[in-house]
This record gives sequence, C-alpha cells and structure tokens, in this order.
Amino acid sequence: MCGIVGCAGRKPVAPLLVDGLKALEYRGYDSAGMALSQEGGLLVLKKKGRVTTLENEIKKMFPNGTAGIGHTRWATHGEPSDENAHPQVSENEDIAVVHNGIIENYAPLKKWLIEQGYKFTSETDTEVVVHLLSYYYKGDLVQAMLQAVSRLSGSYALAAMCATEPGKIVCTRRESPLVVGFGKGENYLASDVSALIKHTRDVCYLGENDVAVVTPDDISLFDCDGNPVQREHSHIDWDIAASEKCGYEHFMIKEMFEQPQALKNTILPRVTEGRIRFDGIDEGFLRSIKRIVICACGTAYHAGLVGRRWIEDFSRIPVETDIASEYRYRNPILSPDELCIVVSQSGETADSIAALRTFKKGGGKVLAITNVVGSTVARESDMVAYTWAGPEIAVASTKAYTTQLSVLFMLAMELGRVKGTLPQSKYDGLLNELLKIPELASKTLDLSSYAKIAAKRHYTQSNVFFIGRGLDQPATMESSLKLKEISYIHSEALPAGELKHGTIALIEKGTLVVAMSTQSALKEKLASNIKEVKARGAQVMLISSEDTEKTMDGVDEVLPLPKVEDELAPLISVIPAQLFAYYCSTLRGYDPDKPRNLAKSVTVE
Ligand code: F6R
Repeated sequence: MCGIVGCAGRKPVAPLLVDGLKALEYRGYDSAGMALSQEGGLLVLKKKGRVTTLENEIKKMFPNGTAGIGHTRWATHGEPSDENAHPQVSENEDIAVVHNGIIENYAPLKKWLIEQGYKFTSETDTEVVVHLLSYYYKGDLVQAMLQAVSRLSGSYALAAMCATEPGKIVCTRRESPLVVGFGKGENYLASDVSALIKHTRDVCYLGENDVAVVTPDDISLFDCDGNPVQREHSHIDWDIAASEKCGYEHFMIKEMFEQPQALKNTILPRVTEGRIRFDGIDEGFLRSIKRIVICACGTAYHAGLVGRRWIEDFSRIPVETDIASEYRYRNPILSPDELCIVVSQSGETADSIAALRTFKKGGGKVLAITNVVGSTVARESDMVAYTWAGPEIAVASTKAYTTQLSVLFMLAMELGRVKGTLPQSKYDGLLNELLKIPELASKTLDLSSYAKIAAKRHYTQSNVFFIGRGLDQPATMESSLKLKEISYIHSEALPAGELKHGTIALIEKGTLVVAMSTQSALKEKLASNIKEVKARGAQVMLISSEDTEKTMDGVDEVLPLPKVEDELAPLISVIPAQLFAYYCSTLRGYDPDKPRNLAKSVTVE
C-alpha cells in the first residue's frame, strides 16, 4: 500500500528516486510523484499512472535537486489522479509530504484545519498532515512533525521536506514500515529495502513512533518525545539479481521458476541428522502447546488452511485457521497455552499485525512465518521461522506460498514427533519425501507447456470453478485466487462435495471446472463429483499425478504432476495452477506482476 523512498545527498537525486519507486511499484501503481529540494524551493512533480509516466516527465526537465522524497500510490482516499497523487504540498508549496497508511481521524482534523483557514485541494487523508505541519512549523521541521503526529490516529509512514531546511528529510512511522539506509555522502529512507539495495546494505528499521532526520552526512533518530535514540543496524545480504528479472518477461514467472531453489533454501538448513530443527523454538515449548490458531490473509491464509490439516493430522493438536481481519474483531477466546502462528510474506500486513497484537493480550506465544527479516511481524513475535524465498516482487504470491507450506509441514512433523503422535517410521518416511520436494517442484515446472496449452484453450472463459477434497481443497482455494487476481477471470474454489449444495446451478455447457486430485483415499469421491459437472456440460481439467489421471472418467484435459506422496502434494499441486493463471493473464494482455487494484504489501486494514 503505497511506497515511499527518499535520499539526501550531493548529486541530482531524481534518477535514484525513480529507480527506488520502480522497485516499490509492487506496493501500488495508481500514481507516482516526488518533491526535490532545489535552489529556490521545492520542485514537486506528480502524475497519475505508473512510475514510467513520471519518469518521462522528469527526463524532459533535468531537475538538479540533491535531496528528495518519492511516492508510488495505492489509492485509499480519493481516486487515482494528479491532484490526489503524492507528494501533497502546503498552500505556498514550502512543505511536501509523502504518506503510506491511513489517517483515521482525518475528517475531524480536516474540519478543524478548514476552520483555521486552510484550503484543501485533494481528497486525500494525507493533506491534513501537510496542513498540520504548516500549522506547527516554527522553523524546525522535526518539532512540527512531533506535534503533528501527536494529533494523528491510524497508521502511517511519513516523509516530509521543507523549503527553508534544504537537504533535510524528516520521517516517522506508526504501524507502517519504514527503513533508513546509510550511504557514503548520501543517506536514504524507504518503505522497504528493495528500493535501497543498489545503494546500501547498512540499514536500520525505525521503531514504532521513531522520527528520523536524514541529511547527506547523517541520520539521527528520536523517540516520540524528541529524545535521541539508538536502533540496531541490520545488514541486507540479498543478491541484487534477486530483485531483477534476469531475462524473464515478468517477475511472477521468474519467481515461480525459483520455487525449487526457494524450497531447498527453506527446507535443507533445517534438516540435520535425520531430524528437523527450528532455531529458537524449544522442544519443551512445542510439547506444552494445547491449541493453535493460525492467522493470515490471502495466500498466506490459504497456506494456513493446509497447515491446519497437517498439524491436526500429525500432532492431534486442535488448530483453527482464521482470516486475520476477522480474528482481530471477533473477541477470540485467548489462553496462555495457545500458540498463534502468523503467516505473512511481507511481515507488514496491517490485519496480520493486529491479529498478532490481539492474540498477545491473552499471554500466549506467537510464532511468525515470514519472508522478510526485520519486518514488524518478525520483530513482534516470540519466535520466527523464516521462509528463505528471497524477495518476492510480483504482486501475486508464488514462491512465498510454497515455502510457507514447507515450514508449516516441518512444524507439523516436529509437533507430531514431540507429542509422540507421529510414529518414528512415519516421521522418517515423510522427511525422506520432503527432501525430494525441491526436485519434484522442478519436475512440475518442466511440465509447464501443459499449462500454456490449456491457457490458450481457456483464457477467454469468464467463470472457472475449482474443486478438490481433503488437502486438495485449500490448495484449490489458492489456485483459484491466483487465476482471478491476475487474469480477472471470475473463479471460485469449492470443496468438491459442497458444489451440489448451490453452486452447481452455475455450471452450464462449456464452463471450465478444474478438479485437483492428489489424495488417493478421496479419488473415487472426486470422480463422482467430476461426473456430476460433466453431466451438466462442464469441461473438466484435472490436476493430478499420472496414476490418478488414468482412473478418472470424463476428464477433458490434464495438468500433470509428478508422482508425489499424498501428504506432501500441496507443496507442488499449486504449481500447474500458478502457471495456468500466469499464461491466461498474459494471453489476455495483462501485466501479471501488477494486477489492477492490488498491492503487494497491504499495510492498511
Ligand atoms: C495473493 C497475495 C495476497 C497476500 C496477502 C497477505 O497472491 O499475495 O493475498 O498473500 O495480501 O500478504 P502477506 O503474506 O505479505 O501478509
């Protein structure tokens, strides 16, 4: 939800800001803009549309400002337009602000500011921040910021500049991420490190309510009372290639093909001497767990639904998987012997963070499964099991999902082992099969041409239904989400047995039904459901391993999987569906990396 980047240096900074905004575009792409501190005041440039539109404007102007703040927007308050684009500026254009988040009390503040004589020119909540800064500004932007934010409620990462303090950027955050980066003769800030990685690997994540002052020579940090504070530095060791396309047409396809390596990186370091070991997760603690709640959103929620089945099956610990935005508001029953697992690729999803905080009030421990070191979810959890998927840039999650599954699978096995509910021979067998998963993911990707051919046949569909049973059921939910979010084809996933309780009314001649069948015990039941939709004229596509495909009557085409043990199937069964979604999206002429209306990191509720 909106990306912020800033740099204070000694050379023209616009190209660096454009580059940073491109890296952050996954957070929103409704408009882009920047404010530069130049001789004579602030230069503000902003445009509706993608960063390249802004870039083309900038190329005509050669701006020479050496400090600046940039923004790429995912619209919340006010439609995408030049006026609502950030930076938002004060009436005489001497203060500029970029913002990620939502100012929840913007309406009363706006009313009050209008009473004080301020005029509003946009529909954004951000504009109240600019006018508050003007109201409090008495020659010191830090003091004005401290006073302004004391009146805000909601979530924000803010960066501001003032014409009378050239070369200085003041930024702060509450419930939205912000990182500062240390360079040589220039210093930086950004919503996440992907915007900074070309310039520095020495970064510091701002704490809640911290204020940072970024100048070419220094970054000073203060708490919300204006007292100096020190924060730990982090070193970013990502490979730059990981945040570039490396010859692939889109990040999404690159990231799908990175799944074997990502799975290897996530699984292998945790397997030693025939056992799974999680750093920082105590065996005694695992043994003491009586209940588990998994909280997450979107794709990560789907991973949690699969995880629930594995944990209950292997360890007999009752698990509920809840959508984070519902959990936080439903007065959950909290208990100190319950474990909350928060699954979040970004570690910055507002609802997942709120669910985590809600859970913590009951005194239980939180385990984070996240892909981003130092993210809010990682920092606020008691234990972290990282997915080592590398940066995921495409908005639609792929490698983060399969690596989340791998962590949940290993955790389920460990819980089963310490609880004594998973016999040693079964544990050894599952571990053996788990170690084959990166290779099986690779084999599944080798079969991508099937998905491409199927997409050519079906990309004009307007409705697709996914059905499955057992472990295939949550896997089809993720498959369906992939298709709808990047191809804009309406799609739904249903437990196969549930279809006849209403939704079958929508099946007509030619409707595509994708059936997933990886669970041998449920094969026959699914076969009956396939017959039911076939009898209503559906075209049936089956995702299954070769053995199953031979036994299924009425199937029109197959997206094949290599042979995989039933329990581990979700780790690869989504891959053909990811590929199918990707090819449908590109055949329909869309950009799968930046689906409309979506942002990668949902930092507002
Ligand atoms: C869909 C997708 C989203 C995210 C969701 C949660 O492809 O990526 O549904 O899974 O927004 O994001 P994280 O995992 O960052 O908390």
